[in-house]
Amino acid sequence: MDPYGNPFAPGAGSRPPELAGRDAILQAAKISCGRAIKGRAARSIMLLGLRGTGKTVLLSEIGRIAEAEGFLVSRVEAPEETNLAGLLYPEMRKVSRSLSGVEAAKRHASRALGGLRNFASVFNIEVAGVNIGVEPPPEPGLAESGDMQHDLPDLFDQIGRAAQAANKGWVLLIDEVQYLSQQDLSALIVALHRISQDGRPIVFIGAGLPQVARLAGEAKSYAERLFNYPAVGALDEEAAAKAIEKPILDEEASISNAALAAIFDVTKGYPFFLQELASFSWNNALGPEINERDVQESYTETISSLDNGFFRVRLDRLTKAEVGFVKAMATLGDGPYQVADIARAMNRTQKSIGPARASIIYKGMIYSTDHGYLDFTVPLFADFIRRKHISED
Ligand SMILES: Nc1ncnc2c1ncn2[C@@H]1O[C@H](COP(=O)(O)OP(=O)(O)O)[C@@H](O)[C@H]1O
Ligand SMILES: [Mg+2]
Repeated sequence: MDPYGNPFAPGAGSRPPELAGRDAILQAAKISCGRAIKGRAARSIMLLGLRGTGKTVLLSEIGRIAEAEGFLVSRVEAPEETNLAGLLYPEMRKVSRSLSGVEAAKRHASRALGGLRNFASVFNIEVAGVNIGVEPPPEPGLAESGDMQHDLPDLFDQIGRAAQAANKGWVLLIDEVQYLSQQDLSALIVALHRISQDGRPIVFIGAGLPQVARLAGEAKSYAERLFNYPAVGALDEEAAAKAIEKPILDEEASISNAALAAIFDVTKGYPFFLQELASFSWNNALGPEINERDVQESYTETISSLDNGFFRVRLDRLTKAEVGFVKAMATLGDGPYQVADIARAMNRTQKSIGPARASIIYKGMIYSTDHGYLDFTVPLFADFIRRKHISED
């Protein structure tokens, strides 16, 4: 069918035509925002899931909803080896400036801006294009210790006071939280703890790989109580069918039940794969109904597209020794995997594969599960390795 009319949206962060199966998470986010603005304790939310499950699009959607409801919204993504001070500074500044335009909040917002000047200076943040002259003067004693665990909570507190005075809420969205250093994650948790205790109208919603729950717990033991950790996983069959069928019907085409079942079967309901296969099936179908054959005939193309994109880019970041490690995992079948088994498959001792293990975790390719097993952060990745690397050797 006409590729120009193709409604599907394969690609990292691409907004799907139908955001299926996520109503409970969206509802929880709305409630947290609604409670925060009323000065009631609001749980911060940390979306956890493997790659390609729809965390980024959920953050965007939550941001959109919050903006429509009048919240100030900041959205940032933590790149690898990020520094939280530099990441948050421009956002805190934007929010404080916006609040300083509200008469009732002026005094608090000016203090926040003064604190931000100290903060920029102690953390060596480059303040490009900012005319310091028209800014409020530095605020003595506020956010000038150079210790994030003190300064970030102080700033959140001050911005929270300003927001409260303005009767506004601030929603802070951070993607790829697993890349924050332990110190930065600790500082963020302390800051969120403080604003939640004081009932300030700031809501944090983060997203990251499954290990974030453990990282947060290691950073601060009370993190477990501070956050809600909704799992963002594969869609169940009903949600997957909706995600595929609704956009097709909206374009005045249709899809057979057998074709829907075939897509679910192959993709296991993982959103990234589902968009990709549905998209190829649309392009290859004569239409107006997409049938099971169209899906089957699109399978090879879909797999090769994933192998050359979604899967490939991740493997490219590993060294040869690390590739050997993940190959050994894949030979053991599907995860989770015990380190002892991986070592045995590699004819190595557990200790000797420790550095490779740590490095692959650091690169975000595998993670250690709650029970001390290892697993891939990319769904169906073991299949990919077996397909591309083990069969070809
Ligand atoms: N609930 C959903 N229903 C259908 N497709 C979805 C859903 N959530 C995400 N997608 C699709 O999945 C892909 C990956 O989404 P993304 O948010 O980038 O995942 P993540 O951030 O978890 O890696 C995108 O193509 C997006 O359109
Ligand atoms: Mg993402």
